[in-house]
Amino acid sequence: MTVNRPKALNALNPDVLKDLKDAFEAVDLETTRVIVLTGAGEKSFVAGADIAAMSQMTKEEGEAFGKFGNDIFRMIETFPIPVIVAVNGFALGGGNELAMSCDIRICSDNAVFGQPEAGLGITPGFGGTQRLARIVGVGKAKEMVYGARNIKAEEAYRIGLVNAVYPQAELMGAAMKLAGIIAGNAPIAVRNCKKAMNDGLDTDMDNAIVIEEKLFGACFETEDQQEAMKAFVEKRKVEAFHNR
Ligand code: CAA
Repeated sequence: MTVNRPKALNALNPDVLKDLKDAFEAVDLETTRVIVLTGAGEKSFVAGADIAAMSQMTKEEGEAFGKFGNDIFRMIETFPIPVIVAVNGFALGGGNELAMSCDIRICSDNAVFGQPEAGLGITPGFGGTQRLARIVGVGKAKEMVYGARNIKAEEAYRIGLVNAVYPQAELMGAAMKLAGIIAGNAPIAVRNCKKAMNDGLDTDMDNAIVIEEKLFGACFETEDQQEAMKAFVEKRKVEAFHNR
């Protein structure tokens, strides 16, 4: 899936956000195992929410725009299958927030991350005040958000904002390879892993392990679990998983 508005560095105006929502809603979950999200061009993943569109907003319109973006990013975060983001350049403001709503972030060596909002007179509005602290820790997140300081790919890697950095030309290949590895595992198990980790992180450990137990147990009703374990016992390889 590609955010495709390169003339404005793929900035998120309401139309682009609506397209992103429609694209996720159109995914066929029977046949799709993993989504790879990136931005068009070699310069920018997403350079933020559209500043021109926001420049005239009232308090009510700003709040509604924040909710529009937040609802879509939450849908991506909780999407049943994994979403890998290949950050191919600027990931600023809403761009960094979009990347943070994905499961796994990798980037090109020209990528730049940041939450510049405080320099524009606003707070991050699509989850940046929440997800950045959860990913890189509160102290680093506050430094980045209060200071509106952008960071380069290597620093993003060092603080755990991305899992790996690649030369631009190798980024999509690396994303597709990772997607292929995930797609090679049992689909229902992968989905249950995502749900267990996401839901568990939103609650305390006593409830989190119960969430895991239910999703672990549910796997034992699947054909894929039965076949994979039978194959192991019989010392042969599983030919294919059937999403059942
Ligand atoms: N909104 C609207 N248009 C944008 C944009 C944005 N966030 N980012 C870039 N563009 C547009 C520019 O206006 C320019 O358009 P024109 O050619 O029509 O003038 C085009 O994209 C190319 O941009 P630049 O000429 O500025 O390119 P550059 O290489 O000189 O600079 C940049 C690149 C450093 C990313 C710079 O464009 C920039 O600072 N962009 C804004 C980044 C930003 O502040 N993002 C946060 C937005 S606030 C937000 O996202 C709120 C939220 O949490 C919901």
